[in-house]
Amino acid sequence: MFGREKSIIVPANAKNATKASELLAQGELVAIPTETVYGLAADACNGKAVARIFQTKGRPQFNPLICHVANITMAERFALFDDVSRALAKAFWPGPLTLILPLRLSSEIHPLVTAGQNTVAVRQPRGFAADIIKEFDGPLAAPSANMSGKISPTTADAVLASLGEKVAMIVDDGPCSVGLESTIVRATKGRLVLLRPGGVTAQQLRSLTHLSVVPPKQSDSIQAPGMLASHYAPNATMKLDATSVQYGEALLAFGPDRIAGAEKAVAVQNLSETSNLLEAASNLFSMMSILDRSGAARIAVEPIETSGIGAAINDRLLRAAAPRK
Ligand code: TXA
Ligand code: MG
Repeated sequence: MFGREKSIIVPANAKNATKASELLAQGELVAIPTETVYGLAADACNGKAVARIFQTKGRPQFNPLICHVANITMAERFALFDDVSRALAKAFWPGPLTLILPLRLSSEIHPLVTAGQNTVAVRQPRGFAADIIKEFDGPLAAPSANMSGKISPTTADAVLASLGEKVAMIVDDGPCSVGLESTIVRATKGRLVLLRPGGVTAQQLRSLTHLSVVPPKQSDSIQAPGMLASHYAPNATMKLDATSVQYGEALLAFGPDRIAGAEKAVAVQNLSETSNLLEAASNLFSMMSILDRSGAARIAVEPIETSGIGAAINDRLLRAAAPRK
């Protein structure tokens, strides 16, 4: 190990779950693997630690964060469940579903986590993150572990590339299986408001609850960063629903057939050779990063179906393509 610093990337094992939990208890930030994307975690009850999340990401505003829990019982320490939300948690947790719930008055969640609102976003992740939360025995606030506005990381190396040594530890559990952030839902007045499409689809929500799934109203006060027009932005510009490839462009392909001029592409990545939307979702962010690093000025994206998780894929692509501020 001549002259080489010890890497902050460590494997997901019991020893490192304990180490991660100790660092979190000291107010440090730890990047944790979940099934959706890697999260930048802090003790949700420690204001200084939570503030460091915003500082580290360069997040422009104090937007509210998701509290990650080990189970429904841990969530009940600080959030109030209605019947519909409880049924959703029972059906989809652990998994890529975040519920917006009223915050208990007595809650120890730091107000920076909720941006001072009386609601809190909660989810029980799958994967090694759950082991770390169990070990820590308390909720962890965690946004995606990337610089604000950039592509969300689905590997430990992508976290390191985005945040460098600003985190105490990055726990590596391989590529994320879902690859897109969680679905965010609020149950209200007999309906489900879909604040962000994600790994759990609108169809799944409807068939479990028999409620209608509606988009948020413009008047909904919450400014979600994942809902800002420009987000997940690569350096290259994006050309969506492309019908042809021009010189100088990279190609983000989907399915077995190529659009015209595909041979001109500077670099090509195929989200799924077999048009499998789940596979495409899990590849989206890492392939966008690879094409971005090819140095192409523009990334042409082949059309992708909008059914099922295709809605979330197209949502993220639209934001990546939105004009930058
Ligand atoms: O899959 C995920 O959800 C990942 C992993 C790490 O769990 N996390 C993630 O966090 O995507 P972040 O911070 O990038 O997105 C959290 C979203 C934001 O759009 C935020 O505005 C919204 O959750 N949010 C948090 N609290 C809220 C609340 N009380 N009401 C409405 N939206 C809220
Ligand atoms: Mg994010």
